[in-house]
Amino acid sequence: MNEHELKQRQSIIDACRRMNALGVNQGTSGNISVRHEHGMLVTPTSMPYDAMRPDDIVYMTMDGEAHGKRQPSSEWRFHLDILRARADVNAVVHTHPPYCTSLSILERPIPPIHYMVAVAGGSDIRCAPYATFGTEELSANALVALEGRKACLLAHHGMIATGTTLDKAMWLTVEVETLARQYLTCLQVEEPPLLSVAEIDNVIARMGHYGHRD
Ligand code: 13P
Repeated sequence: MNEHELKQRQSIIDACRRMNALGVNQGTSGNISVRHEHGMLVTPTSMPYDAMRPDDIVYMTMDGEAHGKRQPSSEWRFHLDILRARADVNAVVHTHPPYCTSLSILERPIPPIHYMVAVAGGSDIRCAPYATFGTEELSANALVALEGRKACLLAHHGMIATGTTLDKAMWLTVEVETLARQYLTCLQVEEPPLLSVAEIDNVIARMGHYGHRD
């Protein structure tokens, strides 16, 4: 393992610990992948993040062949399918954040309640229909929900955030969880008024100069 790969593996472990410390995940839920060589580096299944070491991270080829001493995350399929389908994505973060997951249980997308919805790439953050964890069906549903977007919710499950880098995918995870929290807070009073699709397009154009765009 060269220095670069060691650093990449450690950055995945650091991000896993960070997502739990930030309150956007808990326990061994969630998983992270980063594009690497002709495949991806992905977290092992059901392993406590504090016990995780660089050689516990699994390398998988784009054909789904796993290399390493651990089994890959049970969600390796959607990680691989997203990296295969989306040349704009180099990192995938899947978590079970409390507010995103609550909205996903209600099977609700996040509509344009706030201009920051635009950071996920469009005027809403879709909620992919439910399918059992680890299945091809869940992966297919996630890919559809991610069309033209960098993040989506997964019904009765959690969320996925992507990025050109792992830092950007982690940042987006926190932003989407914040939006979900704001939306659920508003829903306790009433269904909130929404921004128009045209205004979100306007925001996306302005964000190009602000630094939110990849
Ligand atoms: P893994 O421990 O297999 O990555 O699974 C956690 C999870 O969140 C499944 O959706």
